[in-house]
Amino acid sequence: MKNVFISGSTKGIGKAIALQLSKKNFNVFLHGRSKKELQQIANLIEDQENKKIKSIKADFLKEKDLKRVSKFLKKNSIEIIINNAGEYSNSNIFNTSTQEMRDLFQINFFSIFTLIKDFVKWKKDNFIIINLNSFAGKNSSKDEIVYSATKNALRSLSNSLKQEFIGKKIKIIDLFLGAVKTRMTKNRKNFNKLIDPNDVAEFVSDAITKYSTLQVSDVDIFKN
Ligand SMILES: NC(=O)c1ccc[n+]([C@@H]2O[C@H](COP(=O)([O-])OP(=O)(O)OC[C@H]3O[C@@H](n4cnc5c(N)ncnc54)[C@H](OP(=O)(O)O)[C@@H]3O)[C@@H](O)[C@H]2O)c1
Repeated sequence: MKNVFISGSTKGIGKAIALQLSKKNFNVFLHGRSKKELQQIANLIEDQENKKIKSIKADFLKEKDLKRVSKFLKKNSIEIIINNAGEYSNSNIFNTSTQEMRDLFQINFFSIFTLIKDFVKWKKDNFIIINLNSFAGKNSSKDEIVYSATKNALRSLSNSLKQEFIGKKIKIIDLFLGAVKTRMTKNRKNFNKLIDPNDVAEFVSDAITKYSTLQVSDVDIFKN
């Protein structure tokens, strides 16, 4: 059984991935900011799958929390990291503060950089990293000035890592998602027509269980 860490698995896409992978041959390790929500999901999986679930509470705005997460990954011999935790911001140059830009970069970019940097110090080969990116990570928009910047930076980080680890048994997979039905999009008029998070979870499951002889790198996912 492989050990997989899913950041932001208390709701939305992360929760769907955790539930999906727990039904397969994986030990899932949960993360979120609410102990109560983590406990609820752990209980659900433990009841359904008869597996003992470990989780960690951490706020990615806090460096000391990130250091605890890095230790948790090492202690639990994590082999697959799903970088899913993230925040959205709908703002333009006129209504965005520098602090807002810094905070979103901390959650959507620097936290991932820190976790990967600490991870590759001890996990030298045989791992998978999946990054939950967005169409905003390829196409910047004036009304997503902060969010687009963080996701474009993540895409760049990922591309550098792909070059760094070329030739090893390492997969770095970036999922560029269209709008998904989660808390993040709950105010959209067309909410019910958006991508189902369970479909994204199914894709993630396939990406890490199938294609063992292939490199799957950048994947665009949108509603047909
Ligand atoms: N929904 C979409 O349309 C869409 C489209 C493209 C890409 N994405 C990306 O997919 C990922 C998941 O999005 P989602 O829609 O599932 O979002 P969501 O339902 O809002 O869930 C976000 C998760 O991230 C965690 N998180 C937020 N801020 C955090 C912080 N400061 N420290 C630690 N964890 C934090 C949340 O924890 P709490 O439970 O504690 O809040 C939650 O578990 C994100 O990276 C997002 O950018 C989403």
